[in-house]
Amino acid sequence: MSEPALSVTNLVKTFEVGFLGAVPGVRRLTRGWNLKGISQRVEAVRGIDLRVEPGQVYGFLGPNGAGKTTTIKMLMGLVHPTSGGGTLLGHPLGARAARARLGFLPETPYFYEYLKPLEFLDFYGSLFRMTARERRQRAEALVDRVGLRHAVNRPIRKFSKGMVQRIGVAQALINDPDLVVLDEPMSGLDPMGRKDVRDIIYELRQAGKTVFFSSHILQDVELICDRVAIMTSGKVRAEGPLSELLDSPTRNVEVITGPVDDAAKARLGALALAVQVAGADRLSFMLADDAAVAGFLEALRVEGGRLVSVTPHRRSLEEIFVETAREAAA
Ligand SMILES: Nc1ncnc2c1ncn2[C@@H]1O[C@H](COP(=O)(O)OP(=O)(O)OP(=O)(O)O)[C@@H](O)[C@H]1O
Ligand SMILES: [Mg+2]
Repeated sequence: MSEPALSVTNLVKTFEVGFLGAVPGVRRLTRGWNLKGISQRVEAVRGIDLRVEPGQVYGFLGPNGAGKTTTIKMLMGLVHPTSGGGTLLGHPLGARAARARLGFLPETPYFYEYLKPLEFLDFYGSLFRMTARERRQRAEALVDRVGLRHAVNRPIRKFSKGMVQRIGVAQALINDPDLVVLDEPMSGLDPMGRKDVRDIIYELRQAGKTVFFSSHILQDVELICDRVAIMTSGKVRAEGPLSELLDSPTRNVEVITGPVDDAAKARLGALALAVQVAGADRLSFMLADDAAVAGFLEALRVEGGRLVSVTPHRRSLEEIFVETAREAAA
């Protein structure tokens, strides 16, 4: 198997927060004391494994507080793991050697607000030792790409939230990176803006780049990702190709029938998860999975009912997300 673009094994981050707990020297001195109530441990990431192959668009999903940003900060070497580790483009997490081929959009980017877009991108380009000519060409192209041409004469401090997000995405691409890590790239964007970012990610994939991004906007993930991980409370609860997650064997099957009398409806209904009236003279029986279909159709024949249609229902990512979060909370 080829070298992964990104991989982590048993990655853990526990924060010590509160009075005393956060200060390493004090923590050493007070080891063994009962500091309950004045210091607290937050297990933000509780042992996760991830592997992203080159060329994949990988969605990192999870509700607020799941540990996505903490994981991404560990990937980028901004937060030191409590234990575990991994590689980015073949280098250990945090190694400078990976930086040149890496693009990163932080969750709450801090930008030099007095700069205008082209100056800003030029500055970032200079951090990658690009020539003045390369920087100019790349900055011009990116300003167009993220839809900020109209704002080239405005300093970033006058940008709307969505415009800041756009310039952030442009900044992450200035060095033509092979791996792009984006923390909530669609947040703060209107539907047009979200589509623009999706298109950019799609183009990156076409160009053979690897994209790893976090989101809780499920439709965006569903539209563009090859593979997803769903994280809740510091753990990855589900992981795999999007097609497999969506097409899992537990998908429901809806059977529409012609009219049957109430007694037959009750008997058939006992074989289904739910029964609904589906328009005039029609009933909809929601069956748990493919395996339930044959038995149901036999029962329908016995009852003398008429079959109208059988439709497998792909689970939406949203259903999986909610189920996963609920299972994790149970
Ligand atoms: N520096 C820190 N000190 C203490 N606790 C922290 C720190 N950073 C994050 N946490 C805690 O770790 C947990 C995970 O936070 P994180 O920001 O990684 O979540 P997230 O999945 O990115 O959420 P969101 O979708 O809201 O961005 C939260 O409970 C958070 O309060
Ligand atoms: Mg976050």
